[in-house]
Amino acid sequence: TGLVVAMDGPSGSGKSSVSRGVARALGLRYLDTGAMYRAMTWWMLQQGVDLADPAAIAARCGEPRIDSGTDPDGPAIHVDGVDVAGSIREADVTGAVSAVAAVPEVRTRLVARQREIIGAGDIVVEGRDIGTIVCPGATVKVYLTASAEARARRRNAELAGSTVEAQQADMARRDNLDSTRKTDPLSMADGAVELDTTALSLEEVIAEVLSLVKE
Ligand code: ADP
Ligand code: CDP
Repeated sequence: TGLVVAMDGPSGSGKSSVSRGVARALGLRYLDTGAMYRAMTWWMLQQGVDLADPAAIAARCGEPRIDSGTDPDGPAIHVDGVDVAGSIREADVTGAVSAVAAVPEVRTRLVARQREIIGAGDIVVEGRDIGTIVCPGATVKVYLTASAEARARRRNAELAGSTVEAQQADMARRDNLDSTRKTDPLSMADGAVELDTTALSLEEVIAEVLSLVKE
């Protein structure tokens, strides 16, 4: 089967930018699994599902059809045919996504969908549980980290109307939920290579991952 690069790590560690860069350099496809959890959350908000009620989320999570493209130059994401690429980055979705992603039934559905898309491989897949759950047999597993401050600074540079401090507090809250949930928490997979990107440029990190793939 084809090459699979699994890219995991906390928010703002550089998963999306690095994964897209690696996919482009090697002519591979790219899958953003976080976008699928965001799309599910967007749909739940649209429907008015009570996100404090895991049973309500579980009962409805089979309804939306979530389609994710795999082009590293323009990752498409649709829910029941509606383009949600912009809406899933809004603050309301970011604030709610970790609660939705903690529901086991949501994970079962989205992991199945992710495995369908991964298929025979030749893809870079980013998320929180790719090396541990979605693709434990991945060719290369990378665990990206960076200091909380560096991650907040990077995210703040991308978003208007926030501060580094507010960003850092919000990311800490989400990382805590993602690392402590009962089902498939964020953790480093067996065989993963940890890459601390705090003091590296994006280009340096991409080069490092490319060298791991070529080994
Ligand atoms: P994640 O997907 O883990 O949340 P992103 O790739 O969305 O992370 O965000 C990382 C941001 O930080 C991007 O804007 C990227 O250009 C910037 N950045 C700066 N330095 C680095 C680095 N060394 N590695 C990765 N990203 C970096
Ligand atoms: O870009 P950022 O790192 O901020 O977040 P993301 O990758 O878009 O993921 C959003 C949220 O989805 C995460 O905070 C997790 O709660 C959840 N997620 C997950 O549980 N498992 C994955 N494989 C990917 C994302």
